[in-house]
Order: sequence, then C-alpha cells, then structure tokens
Amino acid sequence: MYQFIVPQVKKPLDGDVEISGAKNAVLAVMAAALLADGVSEITNVPHLKDMKTMSDVLRVIGCRISGDSHVLKIDTRGADHLEAPYELVKTMRASFYVLGPLVARFGRCRVSLPGGCAWGPRPVDLHLKGLEALGAKITVTHGYVEATCEGRLPGGTFHFPISSVGATVNVLMAATLAKGTSVLQNAALEPEIDNLVDYLIAMGAKIQGRGTRTLTVQGVEALRPGNGYTIPDRIEAGSFLCCAAITRGRVKVTKIIPEHIASTLDAFRLMGCKVSEGSDWAEVDARGVELKPINIQTLPFPGYPTDMQAPLMATLMSIPGTSTIQDTVYNDRFKHVAELQRLGADIQITGNTAIIKGGAPLEGAEVMGTDLRASMAMVLAALIADGETKISRIYHLDRGYEDFEAKMATLGASVERVIIDADEP
Ligand code: EPZ
Repeated sequence: MYQFIVPQVKKPLDGDVEISGAKNAVLAVMAAALLADGVSEITNVPHLKDMKTMSDVLRVIGCRISGDSHVLKIDTRGADHLEAPYELVKTMRASFYVLGPLVARFGRCRVSLPGGCAWGPRPVDLHLKGLEALGAKITVTHGYVEATCEGRLPGGTFHFPISSVGATVNVLMAATLAKGTSVLQNAALEPEIDNLVDYLIAMGAKIQGRGTRTLTVQGVEALRPGNGYTIPDRIEAGSFLCCAAITRGRVKVTKIIPEHIASTLDAFRLMGCKVSEGSDWAEVDARGVELKPINIQTLPFPGYPTDMQAPLMATLMSIPGTSTIQDTVYNDRFKHVAELQRLGADIQITGNTAIIKGGAPLEGAEVMGTDLRASMAMVLAALIADGETKISRIYHLDRGYEDFEAKMATLGASVERVIIDADEP
C-alpha cells in the first residue's frame, strides 16, 4: 500500500501541464473494439490502472491486447468467452460496457452487475432497459446480467429518462449492429460520447446526430476494426487548474479542447481568477487576486461536471466566505467531506448541497482518498494545510491521473509516494 506525503507549498504554484488522454473516453472505445473482428488501434491512451483493468476484461473474453507509449492494439479475433467476471467488474464499473457489444455481435453474454461504488449505489437499470428496447432479452440472476437475442438485435427507440453517459455508451454500441434504424432520445452530451461516435463511424457505423441529444443509428451487418484517437481528459485539466486557484498561483494546461472545460473555466472566472484560453490550452492566474466565494450546481455536460465537485470543494476551502456546491448528478457523492474536515475544513452537508465556510486555517493530518476525485481533493487541500499531510489509498488516484507526481513537480509541488504496507496493493 502506498501513501502520498504532501507538505504545504512554500509559494504559489506556477507552471504548465500537458494533459493526457481521457480515461473515460478510452474505456468506451476499448469496449467498442469488440464490435468488430480484427485488430483495432487507439492512440493517446493514458497509462492508468483503469486501462489495465479493461484490458484484463477483454483478455478474459479472449482478446489479445498489446501496445506501448500511449498506443493500444486490441485483437478481437479470439473473442469467444462471452463473460465479464465479478472480480473484475466490481473493481471498475466501466467493465459493464462490454454488455452492449457482446450481445449485439454474438447474440449472448453474461456480465456481472457492477455493484456499488465509493459513494453509494450506481444503478444500471437504464443500460438494461435501453438494450431491451433494442430487442435484447435480459435476465438478472446471481448478480449477473444475462443478455441474449435470436440473430441480430431488431433495434428500436429508447428515451433516456435521465442523462446517462454509461447507458448511452452501452445502447449506442449495441445499436450499430442492430437491424433497421434505432433512435436514442435524450442521449448524453458528454465529449466522451462524441469521441465514441467518431470511433464507431471509423468502424463503419452509420450514426446521425453527433453532439445532440438524439442519436439515429442505421444498423449494419458487420463493422470493421477501427483506429481511434482519445480526446484529452477534461477532468484532469480542471483538477490541475484548481492547483492555481487554491495556491493563488498560475497554471496553464496544454493539449486540451477548451470547449470541453467551458463550465469549469466559468467557475474560476466567477471566483475572480484571470482565465485565458487558446486553441488547445487554457490558463488560470490567481496571483495577487482576492478570490470570492461562489455557488455552483453540478449538471450533465455542458454543465459543471460532478467529477470536479470534490476538487472544487477543496479549492473553495481556501476562499474566505460561504460557498455552496449542489451535486444534482450524484446526491450522495460527499464521502470526502469527513476527510477534509480532518484537515480543519468547515463544511456542512444538507441534502445534496455542501456548504463550505472557507478561509479557516488548515492543518496537515493523516487522511485517505475515498475515491478517484476525492483523492485529488485531498492533494489540493494538503497543498495549503500547515505542515505535512499523509494521504493513503492513493490507488484511487492512480486510476485517473497519469504521471501525477511528475506533473505536480513541474508546478513546484512536492508529492512523495512512499510504501506503507508492502503486502497491500
Ligand atoms: C460516468 O459514469 C463517468 N465514468 C463518471 O466518472 C462520471 O461521474 C459520470 O459519468 C457522470 O458524469 C465513466 O465515464 C467511466 P451516468 P456513469 O450513467 O456512466 C444515474 C470518474 O471519476 N443512472 O452518467 O456511471 C446515476 O446514478 C467517474 O471518472 C441511473 O439511475 O454515470 C447518476 O445519478 C466517476 N441508472 C446519473 O444517472 C443507470 O442505469 C448519471 O450517471 C445509469 C445511471
């Protein structure tokens, strides 16, 4: 088991960070490779634990995975074991993405339910209802989803009652091989969906409505292996920009798509940061600025992302006054609050809203990361907490932030990884 040792920074952070490919985009594209027989290639893939987990899932199915320096090759010619086991799916919910491709291409599969996650239940009912709308027969027994269909999926229309990234991913992939035309209404608008649409079209899928809430898919008999690019990680970008705001420094994130972080940049402007952007970069400059408390609501894209809720909360702890964050996507995603309170944070939760009374001095302590984005929040708070903070369970952070210590070092922050229990992961 590792932990981070993070001392309080002696001066505002200042530097440029190159942003890696988006894990949440790669996970969908890796699953989509199952839709075709052959070797697909994905570029700009970050070296993260989640990519290894998804590779393990594909290997269990019979695929061969290879790759180096941010390129992944997926050979699906050996895919014949149509099952995703609990021990893998429970460690990473996105493993559930293999359900749609497998039932659409092979007519049957058995995939473990993902179960809960760090902050509570995360249902998959919309994934299942959407696949049923396309004609799949779904049964759930002994913690596994069994999906079958006689021949090709008939296809159909499904209206998502709420915006769901994962359910849109699963149903969209299945629709590409269904008979006739399928229509997905109220589909998610996250950039990761556009990234998947581009990849599916490169495989020969016929999809209209990219970037809108209505995706119309004309099913085809077969798809060909595709080469997919990965969009930059919008949450990694927002997380590093928080380093500028919380230390009153300056950070420029490069190799990004500014439109993907528009709402994140707006929040920094609302605080009083100087924000500038170019074609593939954005900068937050909080030097010498008296930041103001703000009120934010998380929403599906293009609203403020729920994955930025924890890093933003840490940032608002540094701003005197009362700020609020209402998470309308997950109303119970607040496990990190108790850990931030150990550093001296004054945060109250009422319903799905966090009330942050910022400006109180923070003291370094031993804390833990309760999930991926919560771990980033702990690092941010540690940057301004007096003394030294030790953060355990950083395996969460390793799921979503590539070369983390090195990137923090370029900004002038020391994040040291030390082993605390060689027997634990
Ligand atoms: C994706 O999860 C992301 N994960 C999450 O990022 C992100 O927090 C989330 O989207 C919201 O943006 C990946 O892309 C791998 P949803 P997903 O389906 O697809 C409810 C991270 O930190 N819902 O858009 O699981 C759900 O409970 C991770 O990188 C149902 O009710 O999220 C939530 O309230 C954490 N039934 C809302 O929809 C369903 O069948 C949005 O969830 C599915 C979802």
